Amino acid sequence: MSDYTINTKCVQAGYTPGNGEPRQIPIIQSTTFKYDTSEDMGKLFDLEASGYFYTRLANPTNDHVAAKIAALEGGTAGMLTSSGQAANFFALFNICEAGSHIVASSSIYGGTFNLISVTLKKMGIDSTFVSPTATEEELNAAFRENTRAMFGETIANPALTVLDIEMFAKVAHAHGVPLIVDNTFPTPVNCRPIEWGADIVTHSTTKYMDGHGAAVGGAIVDSGNFDWMAHADKYPGLCTPDDSYHGITYAEKFGQGAAFITKATSQLMRDLGCIQAPQNAFLLNLGLESLHVRMPRHVENGQAVAEFLANHPKVEKVNYPGLPGDAYYEIAKKYMPNGGCGVVSFELKGGRASAEAFMKELKLAAIETHVADARTCCLNPATSTHRQMTEEQLKEAGVPAGLVRISLGLEDKIDLIADLAQALDKVEI
Ligand SMILES: Cc1ncc(COP(=O)(O)O)c(C=O)c1O
Repeated sequence: MSDYTINTKCVQAGYTPGNGEPRQIPIIQSTTFKYDTSEDMGKLFDLEASGYFYTRLANPTNDHVAAKIAALEGGTAGMLTSSGQAANFFALFNICEAGSHIVASSSIYGGTFNLISVTLKKMGIDSTFVSPTATEEELNAAFRENTRAMFGETIANPALTVLDIEMFAKVAHAHGVPLIVDNTFPTPVNCRPIEWGADIVTHSTTKYMDGHGAAVGGAIVDSGNFDWMAHADKYPGLCTPDDSYHGITYAEKFGQGAAFITKATSQLMRDLGCIQAPQNAFLLNLGLESLHVRMPRHVENGQAVAEFLANHPKVEKVNYPGLPGDAYYEIAKKYMPNGGCGVVSFELKGGRASAEAFMKELKLAAIETHVADARTCCLNPATSTHRQMTEEQLKEAGVPAGLVRISLGLEDKIDLIADLAQALDKVEI
């Protein structure tokens, strides 16, 4: 599969049926798996043989879909999780523990900001947030002796800032730390962070990958490029024997390409159990089969709506990296020459009150806590996804109180623009 284009990989990677086997990935709807002898099963528990014993840890349906996502991102191994939140938590917690420190872009999804700044902090993991536009010097200054991961989003939800992946990776690597990039918004169809130096890539597959608002899920892909053993003092979980697995040292036994995902599966899935349901993995794969066809349409609609809004007299500001003049236009061209995503955010003149009045008038775009769906949807982040943030934190994350985030679906842009136009006509400013 590695020689095929990403379009072909979207359709066929991850699963190659044998003679007489199902053409579609089978849903293995089974919690458990049968073995002839205890010895056979014991080998699986000892990680001496590969196979399945209990779906809390791993399931064949999930593994086919994870292999497809790993192929799309150009990674060496992948896993599915129950949600995007679980993916980011696992990616960080697989290499951080009490006493560790994370450097993260301040411009990230509100749920991830909360995960890092509140929940991980309660677990003894500290963090420093940096501006996505920080200079190399400023990024370097955020690192500490105990920093174990750097984190950012390719295109941030909802601020639509674009991460300078190459520079973040360079700084992370100079400190002997991997860069984790949440690539949910562009998807590997529009950007592959590993090609720019990212070490681990995460996804909320709930978004474009599924694309139909059908199944919550997440994914983690390892590039296989980070040399854990070269930084063994920082990553004892990967580089020293795991007592809960008979003294296995993941980085030695599974190598650079498989250690991270094997540890996350055999330790974190075992102990925390955030597996994606095989039914959801099946639905996710249906979405992936058309991802390469859908993404250009989402981008086309996003671009058309961003241009319409930018020229409307009632609109104060539009954020869309595909708009010439947007602060991230140049960097978006570098990382995403075919466009990023179909999400646009904007502020109306008149702030929060006009935003609320406008959203009530929309007919095609539904108010939803969701993005990256076949159907157009919108929301006011400050009163929904980001409502735990203080005014100061909202400002830092680039989310003003009156911001409207609109996710353009797959409808015709003519109808979408007409809907926005009629709603804007009704708003009194
Ligand atoms: C960029 C990004 N990462 C992670 C998440 C969390 O994903 P999930 O809702 O699947 O848990 C979201 C959710 O909106 C997101 O937009």
